[in-house]
Amino acid sequence: MINFTLNEKAVEVDVPADTPLLWVLRDELGMTGTKFGCGIAQCGACTVHVDGQARRSCITPVSTLDGAYVTTIEGLAMSAGMDQGELHPIQSAWIEAQAPQCGYCQSGQIMQAAALLAESPEPTDEEISAGMVGNLCRCMAYVRIRKAIKLAAALQLEGAE
Ligand code: FES
Ligand code: FES
Repeated sequence: MINFTLNEKAVEVDVPADTPLLWVLRDELGMTGTKFGCGIAQCGACTVHVDGQARRSCITPVSTLDGAYVTTIEGLAMSAGMDQGELHPIQSAWIEAQAPQCGYCQSGQIMQAAALLAESPEPTDEEISAGMVGNLCRCMAYVRIRKAIKLAAALQLEGAE
């Protein structure tokens, strides 16, 4: 059995130790907001947070997570102290900037952006480029994603005042 905290709730899973977190989330725990893209840490679609850091869940064996805090897109707002059903400021910014096209890459983009903004609350263009370089979007929504990150930074700073 492997025990960890998922979106503020304790969970216990009984799967082979090398099962990637992505499949545990999707197939065992019903958290389908985290997407499969490449399976080899090259696209960012599967990004979640492990102990507050962005992590590619497709290459993270679940056995490495005993005692960890895992957050997926479903729990992002709760991890920031919001109530269930409320949107995180980053999600609000994403909607305002109309960032998604097909949407497939977007939960990974948002989780990566959340980690970036936790490190750099007012990121420069260079910091955004460096922080988001591993998150691919086949719809080429990069300009809108950048706009959403800047908007999210502004909303978060406004909220912190
Ligand atoms: S599915 Fe994990 S990085 Fe592509
Ligand atoms: S919005 Fe379609 S892959 Fe990014």
